Amino acid sequence: MSARLIMKLRVASARLTTPDVLHLSFIHPSRPELPAWTPGAHVDLRTASGKIRQYSLCGDPADRAHYEIAIKREDAGRGGSVWAHANLDVGAEAHVSAPRNNFPLRENAHRHILIGGGIGVTPMLAMAHGLVATNQDFELHFCARSEKEAPMLAEAKAICGDRLQLWLSTSGRRFDPGQLGPVRDGVHIYACGPQRLLDAVRAAAAGWPDEQIHAEVFQATLDENFKAEPFDIMLASTGAVLHVPADRSLLAVLRDHGIQMPSSCELGVCGSCVCGYRDGVVIHRDVVIPLGARQDRMAPCVSRARVSVTLDL
Ligand code: FES
Repeated sequence: MSARLIMKLRVASARLTTPDVLHLSFIHPSRPELPAWTPGAHVDLRTASGKIRQYSLCGDPADRAHYEIAIKREDAGRGGSVWAHANLDVGAEAHVSAPRNNFPLRENAHRHILIGGGIGVTPMLAMAHGLVATNQDFELHFCARSEKEAPMLAEAKAICGDRLQLWLSTSGRRFDPGQLGPVRDGVHIYACGPQRLLDAVRAAAAGWPDEQIHAEVFQATLDENFKAEPFDIMLASTGAVLHVPADRSLLAVLRDHGIQMPSSCELGVCGSCVCGYRDGVVIHRDVVIPLGARQDRMAPCVSRARVSVTLDL
């Protein structure tokens, strides 16, 4: 994948949509329009320390003047959200990438079931905008503890109307993924939220074909017991063979040898670093490459190989 355009954007509005979720709207300081995007897309936001974080766009894709995101403050997180809450007020500037979409709506679907848990509702709002604009059949299940803790609830109500189903656990109304029912042709399920919600949706939809279930993940769920082994790679373009020690990522080794590789999350969730491979057994550890593309695409920031692999580089 190619490197993405990085823009210095200005915060046009900033407000707390819940006590710990900041809703931001960015504009370009001099251009009336930002690069176009489609529902489900995310942007990278660079923090002051240079760290990159991904956030789903949650506004209306038809609005070319603004990028809207919502950031949940995670006091025990890696620092990016705390920095954003403390520093991104109206007039502040931040580096934001052009959007990328790893979580698109499926064009051939007859009906779309959107499931958002907490801050995971953000991509669903953009999807709902897109589905309303194209007059498609959908429903949004929005799961939160309470109305007060449901990010962007007013927006969800305004966009979805009676297609919104609100599930508030403190009111005793919990979403039951079991209601997804048996497989139905042309129905696609999209889920974003806490891992336990994604696991429950996957379990309830166990009989559904993989192509009809889609999940957006912004946090790696890497197996802590994974034991990395060394391996070799060959570069298809030159035939050069490089060794990847157990304590180095493939991405790091490529860069050590002067190979320019784009990256963003370096956690296997964004797709920035994905490259092609052949002739090898890859241990896939990312969550971004679809199953159907894993036989020839890999994420060198987290994935490794058994013994050796040839990269299309
Ligand atoms: S840098 Fe994000 S998947 Fe590799």
